[in-house]
Amino acid sequence: MKAVLSAVTAYLPEKVLTNQEISTFLDTSDEWILTRTGIRERRIFDRLQTDLKSSDIAAEVALKLLRMQNLDPLKIDVIILGSMYPDFVFPSTACVVQGMIGAHNALAFDITAACGFIPLAIQQGDMMIRAGQAKNVLIIGAELSSRVVDWTDRNTCVLFGDGAGALLLTSVDDSDPRGVIASTLKSDGRFTSILQLKKDEVDQAHFLEMDGKSVFKIAVNEMADSVKETLNKAGLQEKDIDWLIPHQANIRILDATAKKLGLPAEKLIVNVDRYGNTSSASIPIALMEAVESGKIKQGDLIALVAVGGGMNWGCNLIRY
Ligand SMILES: CC(C)(COP(=O)(O)OP(=O)(O)OC[C@H]1O[C@@H](n2cnc3c(N)ncnc32)[C@H](O)[C@@H]1OP(=O)(O)O)[C@@H](O)C(=O)NCCC(=O)NCCS
Repeated sequence: MKAVLSAVTAYLPEKVLTNQEISTFLDTSDEWILTRTGIRERRIFDRLQTDLKSSDIAAEVALKLLRMQNLDPLKIDVIILGSMYPDFVFPSTACVVQGMIGAHNALAFDITAACGFIPLAIQQGDMMIRAGQAKNVLIIGAELSSRVVDWTDRNTCVLFGDGAGALLLTSVDDSDPRGVIASTLKSDGRFTSILQLKKDEVDQAHFLEMDGKSVFKIAVNEMADSVKETLNKAGLQEKDIDWLIPHQANIRILDATAKKLGLPAEKLIVNVDRYGNTSSASIPIALMEAVESGKIKQGDLIALVAVGGGMNWGCNLIRY
């Protein structure tokens, strides 16, 4: 048996926050943000909705996917969830969501890898399906980034956006031409301090702290190498890739990664301009748009690649 990517969807807040709006309360400008990051706007959930939790938006996107697939929640075997802002340290947000959507037969757990979540989750789901332990694996990235960024820190808050995305991996026979072909994952704990979610000692509020330049360098070097290593494992080459879908962090990181791989701009999926960095949800959101617009077609070879807090990075090669 092997795993195919059988569905993808997203759930995004309606409220658009433009660079222009941010520059009304912060010492920044549309020009600075756009040229340094490629971001024009991002979505954010209503700040007055103070009781909104990551599990709420995760359950929303999960139910949307189940409705789309007409899939009984009891048929979900595994739920893997990523979020920079889990509801609790424990129980896992995946367990909270399992209860909310009635997926009572599922094993549910979180992976803490921030923006590096998707390659890890897909590789875990793929392994469980190959081992015969699961038929349907639901992967959810759910981000309330606007609740954890420091809105007085122009180095970080302009980069992030809210949103949730979900993927479904389904078990199929080996004869199926589709499927997850290979994955590569790496962690490097020497870089724990360059991207962190901290707690203020006085008011206990969370805030995101980042050494942007160091993260930038690691992202550019490791994402391209990760794709190369995965292609190597699969006996494929850069020219075989139909679509590169990187974690949407910064247009300069995306362009540099595509360039290092010798891929033309037309093969790069980009939506960071409209959503900013939605962390664990960014690849599902980009994938959904590329599928819905008809760019990605059945049989295409797609490379998903991400880097995130840890640092963690990785790639999945998938025949769609
Ligand atoms: C954060 C990032 C956009 C900064 O871009 P950069 O070209 O490296 O910019 P620098 O850090 O050199 O900052 C240049 C100047 O702009 C200023 N600046 C930072 N944010 C600013 C903002 N929003 N508006 C205006 N000026 C800003 C800095 O204070 C600095 O000023 P100084 O030279 O007077 O000290 C870039 O490093 C980046 O994208 N890093 C990766 C971040 C990321 O993707 N994180 C998540 C990964 S999962």
